[in-house]
Amino acid sequence: MIQIRNVTKKYGTIIAVDNISLEIPGGEICCLIGPSGCGKSTVVKLINRMLEPANGSIFIDGKDTRDFKPELLRRHIGYVIQNIGLFPHMTVAENIAVVPQLLSWNQEKIEERTEELFRMMRMESDHYRDKYPRELSGGEAQRIGVARALASDPEILLMDEPFGAVDPLNREGLQAEFMKIQSDLKKTVVFVTHDLDEAIRLGDRIALMREGKIVQYDTPEEILAHPQNRFVSDFVGADRALKRLSRFPVSEFMKKPVVVKVTDDVDAFISQIRKKGRPRFFWLLDEDERLIGPVDSRHVHTPFSREEDVMEANCTAITVRDSATLRDVLSRMLGQGVKTIPVTDDNSRLVGEISILEIEKVTEEAALEC
Ligand SMILES: Nc1ncnc2c1ncn2[C@@H]1O[C@H](COP(=O)(O)OP(=O)(O)OP(=O)(O)O)[C@@H](O)[C@H]1O
Ligand SMILES: [Mg+2]
Repeated sequence: MIQIRNVTKKYGTIIAVDNISLEIPGGEICCLIGPSGCGKSTVVKLINRMLEPANGSIFIDGKDTRDFKPELLRRHIGYVIQNIGLFPHMTVAENIAVVPQLLSWNQEKIEERTEELFRMMRMESDHYRDKYPRELSGGEAQRIGVARALASDPEILLMDEPFGAVDPLNREGLQAEFMKIQSDLKKTVVFVTHDLDEAIRLGDRIALMREGKIVQYDTPEEILAHPQNRFVSDFVGADRALKRLSRFPVSEFMKKPVVVKVTDDVDAFISQIRKKGRPRFFWLLDEDERLIGPVDSRHVHTPFSREEDVMEANCTAITVRDSATLRDVLSRMLGQGVKTIPVTDDNSRLVGEISILEIEKVTEEAALEC
């Protein structure tokens, strides 16, 4: 747990952080968000004592951070720096091992941990370990930044716009991976972001800052349903009902799909479901159980023709991954003009389907609560 009590930080006459108090329970992600210059990075640097407050105290698990040597404290707090901050003259593997080296772990343990982190980040160690940061894409560099922060398995992670420099599509992927990692590791995380959707998706709580103060500190649901004042409601925007959809993982709402393999007797299958009158749609799978596309049982040729009867031969555009949220689902539906879309796992296997009805139910319930 991190407790920030009445902390103020000034740079000359500028009050960067103005008497803030904030309590971040252990194992939770607290997203700090707010306009540029409102003091987010300063809060993060106060926690690991890169900066010292003018007033107030910060406690980690009940202990005053002033009782630790700053360099010791920093070795036990993972830090992902705004704009990545990898050391350019070190290889990727050396970058990951910086803190374990400082902690004088033996080489074998460092090596094991480095390999484990490559696996966790889903990056091929042999391909990346000897590269230099300039040889990485933005998204790869961000992953290495996160791996480096996790290297010594610290209880606390400070992440200052860790995915800020990545394009939206890759950012979604990184967010989903990070949430998977966090569901295992349960770190206490302070996560700075400019992106409200990111804060809603990742945060157990969101602290919205303005001019050095915290304007509202609540769960994403509360912030969206009950903005405390005009600044918050302007910040979260008119489409807050839609934004709430990012809090709902598709995996909890998807239904079991009706499927048939292309190697099975598709005609027999169709005549059987026609007799029953439902379902209208089913999904055709290839011999490896990967999705070929949706089929409307009312409008098929006899005999069935894979070429003519599959409604959407290229399914990539309408498919979402099982790590997506209902908001991703809705934007996919609106973008592609389809009411039911398939959900696939890491290996492109069909694991469910989700229809616009499920989304309507959630938005109706949300509207009632507001
Ligand atoms: N080293 C410094 N010297 C003087 N003023 C500073 C310094 N660092 C930050 N500030 C000022 O303190 C305020 C808070 O800065 P901070 O970096 O915490 O903002 P931020 O919310 O992280 O902004 P951004 O979203 O742009 O990263 C700003 O007004 C900034 O100009
Ligand atoms: Mg900043």
